[in-house]
Amino acid sequence: TYVVTDACIKCKYMDCVEVCPVDCFYEGENMLVINPSECIDCGVCEPECPAEAILPDTEDGLEKWLEVNTKYSESWPNITVARDAPADADDFKGVEGKFEAHFS
Ligand code: SF4
Ligand code: F3S
Repeated sequence: TYVVTDACIKCKYMDCVEVCPVDCFYEGENMLVINPSECIDCGVCEPECPAEAILPDTEDGLEKWLEVNTKYSESWPNITVARDAPADADDFKGVEGKFEAHFS
Protein backbone atom coordinates (compact mmCIF):
# COMPACT_ATOMS: atom_id res chain seq x y z
CA THR A 1 0.00 0.00 0.00
CA TYR A 2 0.87 3.65 -0.21
CA VAL A 3 0.50 5.89 2.84
CA VAL A 4 0.11 9.63 3.43
CA THR A 5 2.76 11.02 5.78
CA ASP A 6 3.19 14.17 7.87
CA ALA A 7 4.18 16.30 4.88
CA CYS A 8 0.44 16.44 4.06
CA ILE A 9 -0.49 18.07 7.37
CA LYS A 10 -1.81 21.63 6.86
CA CYS A 11 -0.88 21.43 3.16
CA LYS A 12 -3.71 19.23 1.97
CA TYR A 13 -3.20 20.04 -1.68
CA MET A 14 -5.83 17.44 -2.69
CA ASP A 15 -4.27 16.54 -6.06
CA CYS A 16 -4.11 12.93 -4.86
CA VAL A 17 -7.88 12.68 -4.53
CA GLU A 18 -8.50 13.29 -8.20
CA VAL A 19 -6.25 10.55 -9.51
CA CYS A 20 -7.01 7.60 -7.23
CA PRO A 21 -8.86 4.97 -9.29
CA VAL A 22 -10.42 3.35 -6.23
CA ASP A 23 -11.30 6.49 -4.21
CA CYS A 24 -9.50 5.34 -1.09
CA PHE A 25 -8.59 8.71 0.46
CA TYR A 26 -10.17 9.77 3.76
CA GLU A 27 -10.24 13.28 5.16
CA GLY A 28 -9.28 14.65 8.54
CA GLU A 29 -9.25 18.31 9.46
CA ASN A 30 -5.59 18.84 8.57
CA MET A 31 -4.58 15.87 6.42
CA LEU A 32 -5.79 13.00 4.31
CA VAL A 33 -5.03 9.33 4.78
CA ILE A 34 -5.22 6.27 2.53
CA ASN A 35 -7.18 3.16 3.48
CA PRO A 36 -4.49 0.49 3.11
CA SER A 37 -7.00 -2.30 2.60
CA GLU A 38 -8.54 -0.47 -0.37
CA CYS A 39 -5.37 0.89 -2.01
CA ILE A 40 -4.43 -1.22 -5.04
CA ASP A 41 -0.82 -0.02 -5.06
CA CYS A 42 -1.12 1.62 -8.47
CA GLY A 43 1.27 4.41 -7.45
CA VAL A 44 -0.33 7.17 -9.50
CA CYS A 45 -0.94 9.43 -6.49
CA GLU A 46 2.70 9.53 -5.39
CA PRO A 47 4.04 11.93 -8.07
CA GLU A 48 0.88 14.06 -7.96
CA CYS A 49 1.45 15.33 -4.41
CA PRO A 50 3.24 18.74 -4.41
CA ALA A 51 4.33 18.11 -0.81
CA GLU A 52 5.77 14.66 -1.57
CA ALA A 53 3.67 13.33 1.27
CA ILE A 54 2.70 10.01 -0.31
CA LEU A 55 5.12 7.10 -0.08
CA PRO A 56 5.01 3.32 -0.51
CA ASP A 57 4.95 1.65 2.91
CA THR A 58 7.86 -0.52 1.81
CA GLU A 59 10.17 2.42 2.57
CA ASP A 60 11.96 2.31 5.91
CA GLY A 61 10.47 3.94 8.97
CA LEU A 62 6.88 4.22 7.81
CA GLU A 63 5.33 1.84 10.36
CA LYS A 64 3.88 4.76 12.28
CA TRP A 65 2.29 6.14 9.13
CA LEU A 66 0.84 2.78 8.17
CA GLU A 67 -0.79 2.73 11.60
CA VAL A 68 -2.08 6.29 11.28
CA ASN A 69 -3.51 5.65 7.80
CA THR A 70 -5.11 2.38 8.89
CA LYS A 71 -6.61 3.78 12.06
CA TYR A 72 -7.98 7.08 10.79
CA SER A 73 -9.32 5.79 7.46
CA GLU A 74 -11.78 3.79 9.56
CA SER A 75 -13.40 6.87 11.08
CA TRP A 76 -12.70 9.84 8.80
CA PRO A 77 -15.07 10.41 5.84
CA ASN A 78 -14.19 9.28 2.34
CA ILE A 79 -13.18 12.10 -0.03
CA THR A 80 -13.52 11.66 -3.78
CA VAL A 81 -13.70 15.22 -5.09
CA ALA A 82 -10.85 17.64 -4.49
CA ARG A 83 -11.49 21.09 -3.06
CA ASP A 84 -9.05 24.00 -2.98
CA ALA A 85 -6.01 23.62 -0.75
CA PRO A 86 -5.96 25.81 2.39
CA ALA A 87 -4.95 29.40 1.62
CA ASP A 88 -1.83 29.02 3.78
CA ALA A 89 -0.87 25.57 2.46
CA ASP A 90 2.46 26.75 1.07
CA ASP A 91 3.47 28.11 4.49
CA PHE A 92 3.46 24.56 5.83
CA LYS A 93 5.17 22.84 2.90
CA GLY A 94 8.32 21.10 4.09
CA VAL A 95 7.90 22.25 7.69
CA GLU A 96 9.09 19.79 10.35
CA GLY A 97 7.18 18.71 13.45
CA LYS A 98 3.72 19.03 11.96
CA PHE A 99 2.45 15.80 13.47
CA GLU A 100 3.14 16.98 17.02
CA ALA A 101 1.75 20.46 16.38
CA HIS A 102 -1.12 20.02 13.97
CA PHE A 103 -2.24 16.41 13.49
CA SER A 104 -5.99 16.04 13.19
FE1 SF4 B 1 -5.14 5.29 -4.80
FE2 SF4 B 1 -3.25 4.18 -6.30
FE3 SF4 B 1 -2.59 6.02 -4.51
FE4 SF4 B 1 -3.37 3.62 -3.71
S1 SF4 B 1 -1.50 4.09 -4.87
S2 SF4 B 1 -4.04 5.57 -2.87
S3 SF4 B 1 -4.90 3.10 -5.27
S4 SF4 B 1 -3.86 6.33 -6.34
FE1 F3S C 1 -1.99 15.77 1.12
FE2 F3S C 1 -0.48 15.66 -1.00
FE3 F3S C 1 -2.91 14.79 -1.15
S1 F3S C 1 -0.54 17.32 0.48
S2 F3S C 1 -4.01 16.06 0.28
S3 F3S C 1 -1.31 13.94 0.11
S4 F3S C 1 -1.84 15.91 -2.70
